[in-house]
Amino acid sequence: MKTTMQQHTDTLNGKSAQQEKEFTDLHNKEHINKLIDSAISLKASPFAHSETGKHKTLAMLFFNSSLRTRMSTQKAAQNLGMNVMTINLNQDGWQLEFEDGTTMNADKAEHIKEAALVISQYADIIALRAFPKLVSREDDYQETILNAFVKYATVPVVNMESATAHPLQALADAMTIKEKQTHKKPKVVLTWAPHPKALPQAVPNSFVKMMRMQAVDLVVTHPEGYELSPEIMGDTKVIYDQEEALKDADFIYAKNWSSFTEYGKVLSQDENWMITPEKTGEAFFMHCLPVRRNVVVADAVLDSKQSLVIDQANNRTWSAQAVLLDLLHNNA
Ligand code: CP
Repeated sequence: MKTTMQQHTDTLNGKSAQQEKEFTDLHNKEHINKLIDSAISLKASPFAHSETGKHKTLAMLFFNSSLRTRMSTQKAAQNLGMNVMTINLNQDGWQLEFEDGTTMNADKAEHIKEAALVISQYADIIALRAFPKLVSREDDYQETILNAFVKYATVPVVNMESATAHPLQALADAMTIKEKQTHKKPKVVLTWAPHPKALPQAVPNSFVKMMRMQAVDLVVTHPEGYELSPEIMGDTKVIYDQEEALKDADFIYAKNWSSFTEYGKVLSQDENWMITPEKTGEAFFMHCLPVRRNVVVADAVLDSKQSLVIDQANNRTWSAQAVLLDLLHNNA
């Protein structure tokens, strides 16, 4: 926790040095690969750093629901000896205003400027979940809530899934692939799958970013209209024919996402895109969970020994622990 004087000094200094030490997205390949190795070590020795977080506090702020992220991040912090405070901000907190210079005479009771500074006095690290509204691409891709916390908090901020990114999930996914791969350069296929609701692009965005940092042969497949952000995709291969894309895959990662181009829209619910045992063959199956059985993927795949979904969820603890440990060493 920082004193008010330290907070003001950081604010005056523009917090530039500290901002490089947040965990809000996947930026630096070398750093990310160190975190994956650290997560693998922590899985083998969960309590090797159980004193590092002693007398330190993690504040977990949720604007949206969670099972895995909430429990695994809390467990990760506790393995490091940290105290944890959790608040469901939409239900239990005051409604926050994020606009600067606004007259707060409507429903928003508290401004992010005060809220972030106050929480920074109670916590050494702030972790935050805030999904997109899926109405305006410009608004969502500006990451208003995450960036406001980064701007006004005086302690490091961890992204527990924002409007456009889920880097903690991607770390666990990369760790899982590293543990299970049998070839030096496995073929990894990210496939769109049907879903009745409009879902964010955060998980596929971060998975693509992460896989582009790994030694894998990455292919993305989806119906036309579901192209992901060109900035995130870069030169990643897209094959619109799912059967062709899945050929010789070592890992099949299924996920639904709503359209990026026709932003937030569900353009297709084509059940032919559901993952079945005929499609997986010998490949491992991956999904971030929660997953809708027999909509996204057939029972027979989820219940088979090729399914890695429980391994991925387990690895959420170790990857979160690696991130928190790194931030404790560098910042808190
Ligand atoms: N995969 C994932 O983030 O799960 P939760 O939404 O349950 O946290």
